[in-house]
Amino acid sequence: MSDKPFTFTLPGTGEIRPSRCDSHIERCLTSMRGMFQDEKAYEAMLAVEDKLLYEVFEIRRPEAVGELISGISVVHPGLVGNEYYMTKGHFHSVLATAEIYYCISGSGCMVMENPEGECDVEWFHPGTVLYVAPRWAHRSVNTDLDHDLVTYFVYSGNAGHDYKTIETYGFHQIVMHSDKGPVVQDNPRWKGVRGAM
Ligand code: F6R
Ligand code: ZN
Repeated sequence: MSDKPFTFTLPGTGEIRPSRCDSHIERCLTSMRGMFQDEKAYEAMLAVEDKLLYEVFEIRRPEAVGELISGISVVHPGLVGNEYYMTKGHFHSVLATAEIYYCISGSGCMVMENPEGECDVEWFHPGTVLYVAPRWAHRSVNTDLDHDLVTYFVYSGNAGHDYKTIETYGFHQIVMHSDKGPVVQDNPRWKGVRGAM
């Protein structure tokens, strides 16, 4: 990997690919087993098609202190039962590393929580910049049922990803679709002991 400065361009509205991309990850329904509330709806959808829920295009850099890894996250529109398509979500393995998200197009939110169980949900609209403070787990949710949620993210090269904690316990809060739009609720299936994490 070159150590020289470089440029690239972000996707415009209606596009999802940055002009430079070293890795492209696609996450389908199968990789989100157990994460949605409505298991029957999940299994019924999966029986028809292993739908693509979200994609990540990364501009890779060495996973080292001082480096910045960035890329584009695209959460497609849709519902599993009454729950919006979302990312798996994770803590950073090096908990003390922050992340910046910039919303290019679409709308939705970031569901966040820290190890003490404090929760926060911040909303994305085109132009929104979100600072995910160190120690906060984060999950992107697309609450627009017609358009992709496209965000640009930047995080420390050495951050790493801890998926296991969220896979084991879930997030304390969920975002559900209703006639009046998105509603943030306590997660009835959260598997931890409240106040103990
Ligand atoms: C990196 C980061 C994003 C996410 C992406 C997909 O630290 O937060 O690049 O990796 O939005 O979400 P996950 O990784 O939770 O599947
Ligand atoms: Zn992250």
